[in-house]
Amino acid sequence: MRKFIVGNWKMNGVSRDLDEITAISDLAQLYPSVDSAVCLPATLITRAVTAVGAFPIGGQDCHMQRAGAHTGCISADMLSDAGAVLTIVGHSERRAAQREKDSDVCAKAEAAKSAGLKAIVCVGETLDEREAGKALEVVLGQVASSLPDASAGTWLSVAYEPVWAIGTGRVAEPADVADMHAAIRAALVTRFGAEGEKIRILYGGSMNGDNAAQLLAVPNVDGGLIGGASLTATKFQPILAAAQASGE
Ligand code: PGA
Repeated sequence: MRKFIVGNWKMNGVSRDLDEITAISDLAQLYPSVDSAVCLPATLITRAVTAVGAFPIGGQDCHMQRAGAHTGCISADMLSDAGAVLTIVGHSERRAAQREKDSDVCAKAEAAKSAGLKAIVCVGETLDEREAGKALEVVLGQVASSLPDASAGTWLSVAYEPVWAIGTGRVAEPADVADMHAAIRAALVTRFGAEGEKIRILYGGSMNGDNAAQLLAVPNVDGGLIGGASLTATKFQPILAAAQASGE
């Protein structure tokens, strides 16, 4: 499976950062055996798409409905109209701050698919849940309830992002990542059959140029969702290089 390396810019990025996005898209061309993308604030999507051409630009969330009285929200159709080709849904920062439930995330993933977008559905346990020995149960519950029934196919990726590893510099142990990704894979195959083998499972949480090679070598780690280390081409480059090397 080709590795999928996705930058998540979160609430970062204004006009002056378009040059950096162009630098990242130029860089991605040097790693043709890796699929890569950057998920940007909605305000930058159209300008970024204009600047980078074919390099995939995504959103970070979408509403579950196509249109309507939802002040401040952005639909999947709007992301697509702006030029996005993918979106993240169910990021833990949104699950926590916007109180998004699995059923919301599932509806958002369906909306993304209907709009022709690829979706990255995020799951992950908190530190309390891990310390209570519930990490597998929590994450498999999220996987079961956050993925639409029509999940089969390459439009979907799952990102396992332990909440305690996001933005903290603390990375999950490769053995724990291996266990979690194997369990997610087994759940996908049980539910979707052979199609479940094709859904890429990304790791996210403080992935960077120093740890990417080790994480991307773990079985069933089919890519990464990268926050801080995606904000500059310089930081993103070693992750793309590690992904290319791991696929060779
Ligand atoms: P991080 O963020 O790489 O800065 O930990 C990852 C994410 O939240 O997707």
